[in-house]
Amino acid sequence: MSDSAKLSYKGQEYEFPVITGTENESAIEIGKLRDVSGLITLDPGYKNTGATKSAITFLDGEEGILRYRGYKIDELSKKSTFLEVAYLLIYGELPTQAEYDAFSKEITQHTLVHEDIKKILAGFPSNAHPMGVLSSLICSLSAFYPDSLNPNQTDEEINLSIIRLLAKMPTFAAWAFKNKIGHPVNYPDNNLDYCANFLKMMFALPAEQYESDPVVATALDKLLILHADHEQNCSTSTVRMVGSSQASIYAAISAGINALWGPLHGGANQSVIEMLEAIKADGGDAKKYLDKAKDKNDPFRLMGFGHRVYKNFDPRAKIIKQAADEVLSRLGVTDPVLEIAKELEYAALNDQYFIDRKLYPNVDFYSGIIYRALGIPTDMFTVMFALGRLPGWIAQWKEMRENKEPIGRPRQVYVGATEREYVFINKR
Ligand code: SDX
Repeated sequence: MSDSAKLSYKGQEYEFPVITGTENESAIEIGKLRDVSGLITLDPGYKNTGATKSAITFLDGEEGILRYRGYKIDELSKKSTFLEVAYLLIYGELPTQAEYDAFSKEITQHTLVHEDIKKILAGFPSNAHPMGVLSSLICSLSAFYPDSLNPNQTDEEINLSIIRLLAKMPTFAAWAFKNKIGHPVNYPDNNLDYCANFLKMMFALPAEQYESDPVVATALDKLLILHADHEQNCSTSTVRMVGSSQASIYAAISAGINALWGPLHGGANQSVIEMLEAIKADGGDAKKYLDKAKDKNDPFRLMGFGHRVYKNFDPRAKIIKQAADEVLSRLGVTDPVLEIAKELEYAALNDQYFIDRKLYPNVDFYSGIIYRALGIPTDMFTVMFALGRLPGWIAQWKEMRENKEPIGRPRQVYVGATEREYVFINKR
C-alpha cells in the first residue's frame, strides 16, 4: 500500500489507503471501513469529510487561494469573461476563438422561453421571493423538455440541456424580477452579449430606449466570474446529491438554487445589506453590533463574515471590495453602508474574538454593495449569486455523472428508543 493510515480499535488494527491529490491534499479512503471494522465515521456538516475527487476548482482556505481548472481567480476576473469561464469550468479547458463563438452563439439561440412560463409566473403572488420563483421555473424546464428525465441521455442531449440552462436562467431571473414589480417582461435581445442582454431584460421599460452602461455590464461580468464555482459548498453538494439519484439536471440545479437561498450560504449577500441598513438606522455603531455577534446569547451573526474553508481572506472578497470602490466612483454613487461595511470590517479584523476564530469577510460581504450600485434590488442579490454559480453547478453535476458516482446515501448513528412493546393506551 503506497501510503496508508492505521486505525486500532478494540485490539484490532485496520489499515486504509491514503490518496493524495495534485495539490498535495491527502485523504483516508474509508470505503471498506464498515465492512472490516463495523465502524462508520460521524462528521455533522461534513467538516472533515471529502465527498468526491474533483478536477474543477481548487481552494486553499489557509492560504486564501482559489483556482478554476488551475487558473487563478484574480487573473480570470481581470482577463476573462463569464462565458469563457463557464466554458472552462464545464468542458475543462479554455475555448479556442471558434469554440467560444460557437458556444456563445448556441447560448444566444436558446435564450427564449416557452410562452407558458408566463402562466407559471402569473401564479406567484407579487411578494414571492425571486429565488423561489427561479427554482420553480428552472424545475419547470423538466416539463417543457421531458427528454431530460431519461437518465441515459446521449452527451449531445446532455449538452443541449446545459446550453438551455445557461441561456434561459438570465431570462427567468429577469422575468422573476419584472413579475415582482408588476412590469411587463422583456424578451431577450440576441444582438447583445450575455450581461448586456440580462441588464436590458431587467431594466428596459416599454416605449423607452435602453442602453446598458458598459461599466455596469463589465462589473456584472466580473461578479459572475467570482461566483462561478467553489468546490463542494452546500449548494453544489446538493446538486451532486440530487444528480446522484439520476433525477434530471433541471431538478438538480433547482435543488442547488434552493440550498443557495439560505442566509448561511448564498442568501448572506442579501442579509449583509439588511444588516448594514439596520446598523445605519440604529445610528451606525459598528462596535455595538460586533459585541452582539460575539454574544453567545444573541443569535445575531456578522453576516458576510466567516467561512467553512477560508481561514484567511476570501480572495473573492478582496477583489469585490476593490471593485466596489471602482464601480461606485465610476458611477458617481456614494453609498453610506459602504463606509459602515469598512468600519465593521476594520473593527472585526482587529477584534480578538474574530482573530481567534479566523473570521474574515467572505464573498458576500461586499457583493451586495456593488449589486445595489448596479441598480439590482436587494432580494435579487442571491439570484445574481445563482446566475454566477450556474456553470459551477453544471460542471460538478457533469463530473459526478461522467465519473459514474454512486447515489449519495450517508449513514447515521441511531440514538433513539430501543425496541419496545406496543401497549394500547385507552384513548378517550
Ligand atoms: C458562502 O462553502 C462555501 O464555499 C460557501 C461560499 C460559496 O462560494 O459557495 O463561499 C458562499 O456561503 C459564504 C458564507 C456566507 N455566509 C455568511 O456570511 C453567514 C455568516 N457566517 C456564518 O454563519 C459562518 O461563518 C459560516 C456558516 C459561513 C461557516 O460556519 P461554520 O464553518 O459551520 O463555522 P461555525 O458556525 O462552527 O463557527 C465557528 C465559530 C463559532 O464560535 P464558537 O462556537 O467557536 O465560539 O465562529 C463563530 C461561531 O459562533 N462564527 C461567527 C460567525 N461565523 C462563525 N460569529 C459571529 N459572526 C459570524 N459571522
